[in-house]
Amino acid sequence: MNAEAVDQLYLALVGMAAFFTTVICVAIVYFVVRYRAGATVNRDYRPSRRWSLAVEIAWCVIPLVIAMIAFVWGADLYVRAQTPPDGALDVHVVGRQWMWKMQHAEGPQEINALHVPAGQPVRLVMISEDVIHSFYVPAFRVKQDVLPGRFSTAWFEARDPGTYHLFCAEYCGTDHSGMIGRVVVLPPADYAEWVGSHQPREAAEAAGQRLFWEHRCDSCHLVQGVNRAPALNGVYGSVVPLEGGATVIADDAYLRESVLRPEEKTVAGFKSIMPSYQDELTEEQILQIIAWMKSLREQ
Ligand code: CUA
Repeated sequence: MNAEAVDQLYLALVGMAAFFTTVICVAIVYFVVRYRAGATVNRDYRPSRRWSLAVEIAWCVIPLVIAMIAFVWGADLYVRAQTPPDGALDVHVVGRQWMWKMQHAEGPQEINALHVPAGQPVRLVMISEDVIHSFYVPAFRVKQDVLPGRFSTAWFEARDPGTYHLFCAEYCGTDHSGMIGRVVVLPPADYAEWVGSHQPREAAEAAGQRLFWEHRCDSCHLVQGVNRAPALNGVYGSVVPLEGGATVIADDAYLRESVLRPEEKTVAGFKSIMPSYQDELTEEQILQIIAWMKSLREQ
């Protein structure tokens, strides 16, 4: 959906460059011919003060205006490309050497393929298990680095059903060139059917809940109610007051940090007693725990 807008900006910039290249080339050729050695022309153009000032102001102001147009245009597009609309479908993407793993909020899991419905915005929350990758779908003009240790997001809305290339666009080791896949855009009805027939044996939320019990998180965190640690229901998406008076929105990044580095942000009224789960959970498992916490909000 942003593809046309990106193309228009790109063509405008190329068009502008082509225009000035042409003007300058024509001027060069004209002057080379007109003032060639031996030609009898008037070469006595001495600069006058007023004329020079006017020229200097013009060559500052005109490029400034053009550059500001390009800047505002590009910045507006960038902000729109970075801000997923409300109600977007959530897909978690984990990149690693050398594959893409997708986890739909609605259940299905896929590797090196991403099925999405046409005409609906899709928000990708992405992280890497190892090195920097880059999620690149040229047809949608979407290219976003996928980093270890930090979520990055991207979004798109595919208009036409079909199959599109997915690439890794950041050199990430031996099989970087093989880290490819496809995005399959289905008509909404077909997509609903696809989701129904691709439910995993264990949904992400269920896996998150299982991890919660397996790692004995319940010895401090109750799902409902306060123990030695804050309750978990209703946390996702809420505003959390911190020790020291600051607040933070409990988004994916905050929850991930709280599992891996709980000492970073202590919730107001609690002691910083939680150990780090840095070496015990994979990024995929953390995403499952987040999915579970998200489902608690919706209950
Ligand atoms: Cu992953 Cu290149």
